[in-house]
Amino acid sequence: MLTAITRAVSRSIVNCELTHLERVPIDLENARRQHHAYEEVLRALGVEVHPLPEEPDLPDSVFVEDTAIILEECAVLTRPGADSRKPEVESIVQALAPYRTLYRVAAPGTVDGGDVLTVGKRIFVGLTRRSNQSAIEQMQEFLKPFGYTVRGVPVTGCLHLKSAVTQVAEKKLLINPAWVRESDFPGMDFIEVDPSEPYAANVLMVGEKLVYQPTYPKTLARLEAAGFHPLLVDASELAKAEGALTCCSLIFNA
Ligand code: GLY
Repeated sequence: MLTAITRAVSRSIVNCELTHLERVPIDLENARRQHHAYEEVLRALGVEVHPLPEEPDLPDSVFVEDTAIILEECAVLTRPGADSRKPEVESIVQALAPYRTLYRVAAPGTVDGGDVLTVGKRIFVGLTRRSNQSAIEQMQEFLKPFGYTVRGVPVTGCLHLKSAVTQVAEKKLLINPAWVRESDFPGMDFIEVDPSEPYAANVLMVGEKLVYQPTYPKTLARLEAAGFHPLLVDASELAKAEGALTCCSLIFNA
């Protein structure tokens, strides 16, 4: 059964890490309402949601995706690139231990789950301020026995690889070609975001269904023209903390 780990929005989210965005006020109650609506959409899609309690002292901890990479055969605990985010991993160890054998990236490796795009047995890791070659080499070592390849992909202009490209179908990616090269994903087809919506490439795939934001109507029209009809949920308040839809859950087959 599809299962999602989520975590309540921290009361300290106003102190979140920001890399490419200016700090603007975040309405905590609105962020919590949007996060609740997000969990409800997952439930509507038949996902069993396991919400973890709030971490009052970890501002970015709602973005649980960054703490682990969950595959069918095992899971890799990350070592997040921002020091303020490293403590987020401990509670995820407890949450995942019942489901998967756990590997763990060690120093000097750093990787955020938001930089990791898994397409079948190919794992693409964004080479960003958060994720480095040492982590890629450790992941190669852990995952080679299961038949995965792991390779780095240059990313410019955004925080994470999955701000620039996400999967919408088995062989199709939604991509912002200004931030990541299509040629780094051989064998894939692409839908490009509307150039006026650079942050629009983050779509959450839940089984074969998609979840998307109403904030990007022109790119939504491109998805619909390609035959995709995602469920919509507004995550605009969380976006002020430089997080997107995929960031807010770890979804896996339990
Ligand atoms: N605020 C999200 C992050 O920087 O990781």
